[in-house]
Amino acid sequence: MSRVAVVTGGTRGIGRAICRRLKDDGFTVVANYGGNDDAAKAFSDETGIAVYKWDVGDHEACLDGCAKVESEVGPIEVVVNNAGITRDGVLHKMSFDDWNEVMRINLGGCFNMAKATFPGMRERKWGRIVNIGSINGQAGQYGQVNYAAAKSGIHGFTKALAQEGARSGITVNAIAPGYIDTDMVAAVPEPVLEKIVAKIPVGRLGQAEEIARGVAFLCSEDAGFVTGSTMSINGGQHMY
Ligand code: CAA
Repeated sequence: MSRVAVVTGGTRGIGRAICRRLKDDGFTVVANYGGNDDAAKAFSDETGIAVYKWDVGDHEACLDGCAKVESEVGPIEVVVNNAGITRDGVLHKMSFDDWNEVMRINLGGCFNMAKATFPGMRERKWGRIVNIGSINGQAGQYGQVNYAAAKSGIHGFTKALAQEGARSGITVNAIAPGYIDTDMVAAVPEPVLEKIVAKIPVGRLGQAEEIARGVAFLCSEDAGFVTGSTMSINGGQHMY
């Protein structure tokens, strides 16, 4: 029987590419999404991948959502914490709500999903958790104290949980994408984005599929000795 993989924020952008890739690799994929029903329906119709709506930043909703997936699809053996939002702005203009929403969803979502699925992985003595961090969590970024803090937190969370899972056959790793050609990056003002792309040694934005390939490796049987690591996929923009 194929393993069940849940990808949060799985119907758009990087998450969408991850879902498709894991499905091609033989996983039974479930895409969680938070808000855009039309995009989720179109994605499910096109790919045949089941979609489940809940807010990953809401602890109870996460527990209920994962329980529903487990009863309807099967035990969750792979979690890809991909869901994330931006609320960019310089600190002196950033509201507490902009700070809190990004922390709640981007970092809180990882905790909530792990709480819902880690105990089952421990019992079954096998699991894969891949957390999508960011180059901006490694290097910081002007106008992103909230996002950089949350993503940096994801990298610490990954290393701590990796230590807790190691004896139970659970690997926990992070990927730190650079600037990828998605709606999120398209929302960066054009002149700002041009300056950022000019600093990418490879000379272009990344493709979502290039992140999905890294996730696929970390979720595979072959990656059983890889845990607590951060794979940077950023076109050479930050060598860390
Ligand atoms: N370093 C130093 N100064 C900078 C700067 C930088 N990187 N960027 C802008 N500034 C300066 C500007 O030159 C400007 O100075 P002057 O007033 O003297 O001309 C000043 O800061 C204000 O800049 P803006 O006009 O851009 O300010 P704003 O308030 O209109 O916008 C902002 C600020 C919203 C943060 C905007 O700069 C922005 O969107 N930046 C991009 C942030 C970014 O990269 N987000 C990534 C989103 S994608 C993502 O996060 C995915 C991932 O994981 C990689």
